[in-house]
Amino acid sequence: MNKDFLWGAALSNVQAEGGYLEDGKGLNVYDTLEISFETGQSTLSDTTVAADHYHHYKEDVAHMKEMGFTAYRFSIVWSRIHPQGDDGKTNEAGLAYYEDMIDELLKAGIEPVVSLVHFDMPDYLRVHYNGFMDRRVVDFYADHVAVVAKRFKDKVKYWITYNEVNTASFGPRLVAGAQQPENMSDAQFHATLTHHTQLAHAKAVLAIKKENPNAMVSGMDAYGSIYPFTCKPEDIQAARFADNMNNNLTFDVMVNGEYPSYYLAYLQNKGVDFNHPQDELDIIKEASQKLDFLAFSYYQSLVVKAPEGIEDPLEVQDHILFGAREKLSNPYVTANEWGWQIDPMGLRYALDTLYERYHKPLFIVENGIGIDDQLTEDKKVYDDDRISYYQGHIKNISDAIELDGVEMIGYLAWAPIDFLSSHKEMRKRYGFVFIDRYDDGTGTLARYPKKSYYWYKKVIASQGKDLENDIEY
Ligand code: BG6
Repeated sequence: MNKDFLWGAALSNVQAEGGYLEDGKGLNVYDTLEISFETGQSTLSDTTVAADHYHHYKEDVAHMKEMGFTAYRFSIVWSRIHPQGDDGKTNEAGLAYYEDMIDELLKAGIEPVVSLVHFDMPDYLRVHYNGFMDRRVVDFYADHVAVVAKRFKDKVKYWITYNEVNTASFGPRLVAGAQQPENMSDAQFHATLTHHTQLAHAKAVLAIKKENPNAMVSGMDAYGSIYPFTCKPEDIQAARFADNMNNNLTFDVMVNGEYPSYYLAYLQNKGVDFNHPQDELDIIKEASQKLDFLAFSYYQSLVVKAPEGIEDPLEVQDHILFGAREKLSNPYVTANEWGWQIDPMGLRYALDTLYERYHKPLFIVENGIGIDDQLTEDKKVYDDDRISYYQGHIKNISDAIELDGVEMIGYLAWAPIDFLSSHKEMRKRYGFVFIDRYDDGTGTLARYPKKSYYWYKKVIASQGKDLENDIEY
């Protein structure tokens, strides 16, 4: 990787901050997400503390500096800035908090990469509007972005408009604050959320560029490389459809500024009304011309096969998109405890595919593995499986750049510190730094660098060349 390549990690602030309703913050959709584990234990209150990053951010940034980060992605929690979301009331304390964090990063020589909307919509908008299902919420969001972009225009260069926007209709509550209305078809729900979130992304691009035309802006997808289960033509067609709808659709719209023919054909066949005012389509077009790079997360690859016993091609498509698709194991790769398939070469496949399709510089803004790490009595974490995961993935990034000519901005691992998973599990740890906090609410919140911390530091110092796991720890 060349010397301008950005190295670091990324975090979702709602999952790490705690600082629950402090300093004027409003409840958001992650705070109110109720998850019960088999034990019956509800983790509803865990966001009150999480990794307590709200109070430890200086210590956490110091660790990032010591690892040699040149970039760090974090999210500005929407409900900290606009606690209710629809009343135009801005919470200055929220802006001041993030300003301080940005200043701390800049002082440490770390480029801030800011995400907007990362599971943090004010819960009020979910309850009273059904989130991004309501067109008005797109404008509340655009107003919010305008405030944030104005405040940080001179300090933040890299912006990500919407975390994993392609998952809006698959994880609607968390990603878009929305619920499928009764009597609404799956296809109509998908279409409405897709359009509103694309419009939200586009308005955010324009708001950021208005404040600073030199800002670098991208949308973001959760990208899972998709393979056909066999070389049977039906499986290949099924995988292609899944790939288009899950991976390509949102990037196709963001880059080309219009809905792709395969999506319009699908909606027409399903009888979905997909006519939008011309000014909205113009905004999407204009934003596409201002998009600078493509950001995505990559954790795993997936295999897809054609459903058996279904003849009607429209039913086949519905099954692939919305059916209880069988979670197929790829016999050529392993998986972690949560069944996420570990496929480093799938990342090279993703990079090659995205670059060939869009010809935009790529930025990996999340990549990592969840492990139930154990802290030893002498406060060590021997996370060699994490090191091995990163070794494979970083090696494949080098291959994509050197062997396949892919242009990249940087690589951000997931994550600098432990935090609550999207399902509010502390046990599913991702950090380079262990946080002494457990699902039963115990722990001192002390920070302990894991073995991978020192390994990643060495990788960054060698600009990705030295991947050996020869750390004395
Ligand atoms: C991404 C999200 O989808 O995956 C993160 O952007 C999330 O917020 C990460 O934490 C890992 O998923 P999980 O469910 O293990 O937390």
